[in-house]
Amino acid sequence: MATILALIGSARAWGNCEVLAREALAGAREVGAETLALMRLTDLRVEQCTGCMVCALRGQPCPLADDMAFLLDQVSRADAFLIAGPVYLVGPVAQAKRILDRLLMWSSAPEWAEVRPKAAITLTVGGLEPWRGVAIAFYNTLAMALGGRLMGWMSAYATGPGEVLLQPDALATARDLGRRLVSQEPMAPPPNVCPTCGADYFHIQGEHVVCPICGQEGRLTLDEGEPRVRFDADSRSERWTPSGFHHHIQDWVVPSGARFMAHRQEIKALRARYDDLGETWIRPPTPSL
Ligand SMILES: Cc1cc2nc3c(=O)[nH]c(=O)nc-3n(C[C@H](O)[C@H](O)[C@H](O)COP(=O)(O)O)c2cc1C
Repeated sequence: MATILALIGSARAWGNCEVLAREALAGAREVGAETLALMRLTDLRVEQCTGCMVCALRGQPCPLADDMAFLLDQVSRADAFLIAGPVYLVGPVAQAKRILDRLLMWSSAPEWAEVRPKAAITLTVGGLEPWRGVAIAFYNTLAMALGGRLMGWMSAYATGPGEVLLQPDALATARDLGRRLVSQEPMAPPPNVCPTCGADYFHIQGEHVVCPICGQEGRLTLDEGEPRVRFDADSRSERWTPSGFHHHIQDWVVPSGARFMAHRQEIKALRARYDDLGETWIRPPTPSL
């Protein structure tokens, strides 16, 4: 009965992201998913967040008119969703970051705090593992910020479009994750990785480690001489859940408006120190239409 939506981060038709997404959809179909849909993120017109803050500080809808509402509507209609995205220059593809930036717009939708997260998985594809950078945790964060409850994630490494088809293990993992979208059985997180968002880099404060992406806390230990990052088996960071993100906005972002207003005149006066720089702004030529 389930409807599964695959969000593809790469613009390449039949690229590795699309192949893994299709494999995961095939896995979901095996265990009962009926409606399968694909959407290419690069087909969407997504404007860059301008930081106007009317969503957070005034509770007003985002004034940018583009395909964000369409995207959110499609995600909300699905029973479960996946994101398949490439590593570009050690990070996610820019369109995915643009979409995440725009999700501050949840500020103007208080009902978001009550949303029950739905099953989600992510499939990240890079060219080579040492260049994987921060993409995996990023796509996981995007999935959570879109209202996903992660059932698992994977990464694969392949360069030319579709080359991942030559890797049976990667296809099998994608298919297994696809099944989890329907069965809703989360995978066991790998060792030394943040169990909430999949980050494999941490802020180290003595023995205490903090995931820079989701704030999950853990401990650095030595296990027979091998360094390990340990987390409570059942503890998961709430930062990117609908209610967690809503609280961050209410508790920190909204009061930041009053803090700024209290100092606004002082800040304006302090700007005078740059009055005599004699600088010029350089702007691109106006495009001829
Ligand atoms: C602009 C660009 C930047 C890339 N940067 C990285 C990188 O930093 N690390 C990496 O592992 N792979 C990198 N790759 C390789 C892609 O992640 C890889 O080819 C992937 O399979 C692309 O997915 P697709 O086939 O679905 O488009 C880059 C590819 C492109 C086009």
